[in-house]
Formats: sequence, C-alpha cells, structure tokens
Amino acid sequence: MNTLGIDIGGSAVKGAPVDISTGRLLAERFRIETPVQLTPRAMARTVAEIASHFQWRGPIGIGFPGVVQGVTLCTAANLHSGFVSCDAAKLFRETTGCRVGIVNDADAAGLAEMRFGAGRKAKGTVLLLTLGTGVGSALFCNGVLWPNSELGHLPYKGRSFEKYVAASARKRKALTWAEWSVRLNSYLKVLETVLWPELIIIGGGVSAKHEKFFPFLKTRAKIVPALMGNTAGIVGAALNVAG
Ligand code: BGC
Repeated sequence: MNTLGIDIGGSAVKGAPVDISTGRLLAERFRIETPVQLTPRAMARTVAEIASHFQWRGPIGIGFPGVVQGVTLCTAANLHSGFVSCDAAKLFRETTGCRVGIVNDADAAGLAEMRFGAGRKAKGTVLLLTLGTGVGSALFCNGVLWPNSELGHLPYKGRSFEKYVAASARKRKALTWAEWSVRLNSYLKVLETVLWPELIIIGGGVSAKHEKFFPFLKTRAKIVPALMGNTAGIVGAALNVAG
C-alpha cells in the first residue's frame, strides 16, 4: 500500500508518497516553507496543497511536533497554540478529503529508523533524538514504541532542555560544534542516567553534519547518526497510518 507521508515542522511542511514496504519515497519531496506561524486552519490548507500537488486521494499520515493522543493534539511547543486540543483527523480531513492518521514527529522518525534505518534489528532500549527547531525523542523497548516520550522537555535551569540543546540553539547562540557538544553531553548524561539506552540515534537535519560533532560526544551507549536523513519523518508518518 502507498501512503502520503507529511512532516509538519517548525519552519516547513514536507510531504511525499511512500512505498511503506520498502520505506522509499515514490516521488521527490514537496516542501512548503512556513516562515510565519500558521494557524491550524492555515496549516490544514498547506497540508491540502501538498496532497493536491500529488493529486492524492488515499490515506495520509502526518507527523506533528507535539504530543498526540489518539487523534487529539495535546501540545504544540513551537507551533501556534490553537493546535492544542484540536481533533487532527477532522482538521486535516476537512481540507484534504482524505483519511488522516497522526503521530508525534519524533515518534514518526523513530518508527522509520527502526524499520528501515539505523535501528534496524536493534534490541533492548533504543533512544532516538531529533535535534532541530526543538528536541524530539522516540523511545523503543525491543522495537515497541513508548509514545510521546517528550524528553526534550526535561527541565533544565528553569526551562526545557530543548531550549539549550536544539540545533536552533546552536545557531541562535552562534556556538561552535565543540561548545554545543558540551551542552549535548550534559543532556545525554541525564538521559543515560535514567534510561540506560543500548543504542542512541541522532536524527534531525543536523545529523547530516554528524562528523562535525560526534567526535566530541561521550556516551556509554553506542551512538550513531540516523540513516534516513530528511525522509524519516515522512516515511514514519506514512508507516503509522498504514498500521
Ligand atoms: C515537541 C515534540 C517534538 C519536538 C521536535 C518539541 O518541542 O514538544 O513533540 O517532537 O519538538 O519537533
């Protein structure tokens, strides 16, 4: 079965049809920049633009950067606050006319990496972190997802850790890779102390530059870059709706 996967991010919405048996994109990704914060209605129209770009009529899987329970959006840390308490299936069905499934964006990336990427065949506790506008996390035990782990929101100095370690924080503060890695190491240490992952996968756009900061990282667990690059969120969202 083919499914349209859509990844809603802090600065862009991306989508492509996915062959969920191979994890391959069936067409080039279509990306719409969102330089201003979109309201839920405006976001639903943007998602519909992606669906109509592919003349899509089938199921759509969406990855959303917030807590998702069933079809209800519960948080939206880096997006418009109007998303909180929204029925996402209804919101996006109204503009696309398609059946929609929704999942946390980092969980989506994790599902894809576990099936087709860096977590393939991994047993035990696996932790995937996406470092981008925010920090997303996906936690797996023997391949089973613990949804909405939200480890970017562990408190640090009165705020969320994500404000300190996201890739956006590195850019905002003009940190060198070494300086940013000091922050990342303190975060990873906290995570390792309480979760004892056997494998840590680093995803998000910055994973493409892993050779710049991996040499500075000190973890007990094996740590590897994600393998699916910027397709993981799209592929995982598609996998989620396919069931
Ligand atoms: C959100 C998470 C999301 C992450 C990455 C965080 O601010 O709370 O749900 O996975 O950003 O987008």
